[in-house]
Amino acid sequence: MSSSSNQDTVAVYGRLWRYVMPHKLIGLIAIIGMAATALIEASLVYLLEPLMDDALVAQNLETAKWMPITFIAIFIARGVAGFATEASLGWIGRNVISSLRRDVFGKFLTLPTRFFDNRTTGPLLSRMTYNVEMVAESVTSVVTVAVRDVLTVFAAFGVMLLQSPKLTVFVVILFPIIAVLIRVLGVAFRRYSSRIQDSVGEVTQVTEEIVRGNWVVKMFGGYNYEKDRLAEVDERNRRQNLKLIRVRSLGVAVTQTIFGFGIALVIFMASRESIDGNLTPGQFISFFSAMMLMLQPVRRITNVNATLQRGVAGAESLFTIMDEPDEVDSGTFSKDDVKGDVEFRDVSFSYGADNGPVVENISLSVESGKTLAIVGHSGSGKTTLASLLPRFYDVSSGDILLDGVSIRDYTLTNLRDNISLVSQDIVLFNDSIANNLAYGELRERPQEELMRAAQVAHVLDFANEMPNGLDSKVGDRGALLSGGQRQRIAIGRALLKDAPVLILDEATSALDTKSERHIQEGLAELMKDRTTLVIAHRLSTVEKADKIIVLDAGRIIESGTHAELLAANGAYAALYRMQFSEE
Ligand SMILES: Nc1ncnc2c1ncn2[C@@H]1O[C@H](COP(=O)(O)OP(=O)(O)OP(=O)(O)O)[C@@H](O)[C@H]1O
Ligand SMILES: [Mg+2]
Repeated sequence: MSSSSNQDTVAVYGRLWRYVMPHKLIGLIAIIGMAATALIEASLVYLLEPLMDDALVAQNLETAKWMPITFIAIFIARGVAGFATEASLGWIGRNVISSLRRDVFGKFLTLPTRFFDNRTTGPLLSRMTYNVEMVAESVTSVVTVAVRDVLTVFAAFGVMLLQSPKLTVFVVILFPIIAVLIRVLGVAFRRYSSRIQDSVGEVTQVTEEIVRGNWVVKMFGGYNYEKDRLAEVDERNRRQNLKLIRVRSLGVAVTQTIFGFGIALVIFMASRESIDGNLTPGQFISFFSAMMLMLQPVRRITNVNATLQRGVAGAESLFTIMDEPDEVDSGTFSKDDVKGDVEFRDVSFSYGADNGPVVENISLSVESGKTLAIVGHSGSGKTTLASLLPRFYDVSSGDILLDGVSIRDYTLTNLRDNISLVSQDIVLFNDSIANNLAYGELRERPQEELMRAAQVAHVLDFANEMPNGLDSKVGDRGALLSGGQRQRIAIGRALLKDAPVLILDEATSALDTKSERHIQEGLAELMKDRTTLVIAHRLSTVEKADKIIVLDAGRIIESGTHAELLAANGAYAALYRMQFSEE
């Protein structure tokens, strides 16, 4: 875990410190609170001496009268100090968590698409929850140890010295020996117990699979198979945990026994001192309590490195994300009245250095207001080609121009403002139909425009039948809607955006022929005065395009109008015939 060198640890903590610094006043309160707690606890054990010797043994009435009052005062002070510490440390912790979380979230919003392609969702999500909590917890515990525990040890040590210097020297020699013994045993136990793998991950895995795949389980009678599978991993988990419990409690028992020997030695020495007349009962009680007071803090101080490393590891995972390069947005050009001339100049693209090119030497141009259809087999690179225009990915070579200006010269915001997209994977948010139509900046659009888009995209057809109309919720990722309904919302969203360039990637694939024809009318009207790139398997949607290109393995193998391509009797004609016979 602690692969990071000390240098990194310092750097990471320094960076974390910047999240804490804005709260330095509250931090000061926390430090005062912690210092007070340490002093109060020490004075408590110190007072045991007069309590014992004066009040109880010598029966001094004056002391007996003041003792309870003093104790009340001390406990009130301890309560106040404890509250001040907890509340202010908690305040700082929660604020650090909030700012870390916002920074990571903000970063997620501006990271390039490629970043998300290469990562699994789970670990990214857990940074937002588990990691930020762990970091804040580690920071507050390290601070607590550094201030409260260190001070407590010093104060308790002072009390011990005051009560019996001789016993203190004895303890100072004895304790490290015991500590080393316990440490050695502890390492051995921990080595053994870390070999007992925690198998709770398997239980989660199996459960998650049946929750997600409950249709398959039902359809294919997977009940017994899944039950057996769970029983197996659950049994393994039960056995391993029992073993872990046994090892741990044995460890505790052995440690306590060793510790008992140490205590016995201290008591033995104390009795001798007492017999020699060097130690009163009160001094002994006070000394002994101070010694016990030190134990927990000493333990935490010796473990502080582990806590620190855990925090550093968590923080590093957050900072690595924050340091990822954002989407390249170096363009400064921006234009309000984009006409929509699109030109690809010898564009090639590959998803990574190890992957081959997915789009190769593509040159094409679409005049403003015209429609270009892209057809080709699955995996031929149609979606990839279209995604280069809004710069979800940047071209590897060549250039793409919008109105004669390279899309890299536009600001990302201006470029994307001018493009509407209905993607192949429809993304809906867990909100109402209306809010999914008017997502983001579209929220500002007037109600009439929203209604019109909903009507043209035939969203109203089904929304009106729902109890809450356009305000009905669509569920997680639109789970409460049918595939075609989701698609219609996505089309409506693109209509509402009303941008000069429109990309339709299989926009009507989930619709039946009749609904598609309805929507086509709306789309046709929309496409009339804007540049459209339409990707479709169903060639009926493509026929009317001004130009059609046929992609194969990322290259244009044919291009022309529907009539020209049929006459040429090539790949397009073959695709067309195949479909024609199907219908
Ligand atoms: N994010 C990605 N990372 C790496 N490779 C990818 C990625 N997306 C697509 N590919 C690969 O690029 C190739 C082209 O994919 P693309 O999605 O552009 O095809 P398509 O023509 O749209 O296919 P379909 O008709 O099935 O939608 C495929 O071989 C695919 O495996
Ligand atoms: Mg595709």
